[in-house]
Amino acid sequence: MDLTAFTAALPKVELHLHLEGTLEPDLKLELARRNGVDIGQRTVEEVRATYVFDSLASFLAVYYPAMDVLVTRADFRDLAMAYFRKAASQNVRHAEVFFDPQVHVARGVAFEDVVLGYHDAVLDARRELGLSAGLIMCFVRDLPVESAEAVLEQALGFRGQIVGVGLDSDERGNPPAKFAHLFARAREAGFKLTAHCDIDQENTTEHIRQALEDIGVDRIDHGTNVVEDPRLLALLTERGTGLTCCPISNSFVTDDSRAGVIADLLRRGVKVTVSSDDPAYFGGYVTENLVHLTRGADLAPDELIQLQRNAIEISWAPEEVKEDFLAELDAYEALVAPDL
Ligand code: ADE
Ligand code: ZN
Repeated sequence: MDLTAFTAALPKVELHLHLEGTLEPDLKLELARRNGVDIGQRTVEEVRATYVFDSLASFLAVYYPAMDVLVTRADFRDLAMAYFRKAASQNVRHAEVFFDPQVHVARGVAFEDVVLGYHDAVLDARRELGLSAGLIMCFVRDLPVESAEAVLEQALGFRGQIVGVGLDSDERGNPPAKFAHLFARAREAGFKLTAHCDIDQENTTEHIRQALEDIGVDRIDHGTNVVEDPRLLALLTERGTGLTCCPISNSFVTDDSRAGVIADLLRRGVKVTVSSDDPAYFGGYVTENLVHLTRGADLAPDELIQLQRNAIEISWAPEEVKEDFLAELDAYEALVAPDL
């Protein structure tokens, strides 16, 4: 069995995925037609031609306006369900997925239509695909803090549908500390916490420090610049705080996938995992991200398995989902080991 086939069939966990970043051109066109939204393109090729980026800023400039095609509860359900089908086809068994309600609420969409539409898909994915999923509400860090406060207030009424709170979008000038009071409130309400600390961001190690020490996040999204600060790296390692890494996304928003540092952290026992960030835009779901990493850093099969062990360990999945996943992973390892 070659390593690509091994990677494709491997049972997987996805922990860093923006649902709005899964808007494939064909679904974008369908939703635009359904809702009478003029997006300026008429074919899949024309839409795809707008999905071209060389920085986070150029990506976000396409990503946010694209959300205009999402209007009704059914639209949010259909977007998430299309993603869950794709994930299941890549043997993803558990996915924790981000969404950005501030952007939708600002366009006049009701908060509950966003959450319940996505939650409809979570229920359908469990029933139809045997896929377990959790929703993580992100604070959009470059919008006014008051709008993040407003969605947190609303999220308190949806504790059964939302598992955690995150922090995404443009980090420059928007450090984690700006949201510390909101994270404290979210923690008190029972939500798990994560925050993006983007690759090579200005003041990145200070931002990682704030996330770890001032907020006490359960995970960090990206965050591989932690290697630049031995004290923070020791703290992260000791606490077992996970890093959700996205090699293809890294290659888009910087000039390097960071495969070397991801593999190095894995080998040092840091709880790194591999995920897909915005797969419709960056052109790779989780299997392609694992293949990209393997090519960049010469990973062995047991290391690909360890990435999945890390992911389920740092996930916020129910205990029985964790146990079932580990049993399936052990069985997969035993089955394919003689062929490796
Ligand atoms: N929101 C959606 N995708 C993002 C990314 N790649 N980085 C920061 N914020 C995001
Ligand atoms: Zn992200």
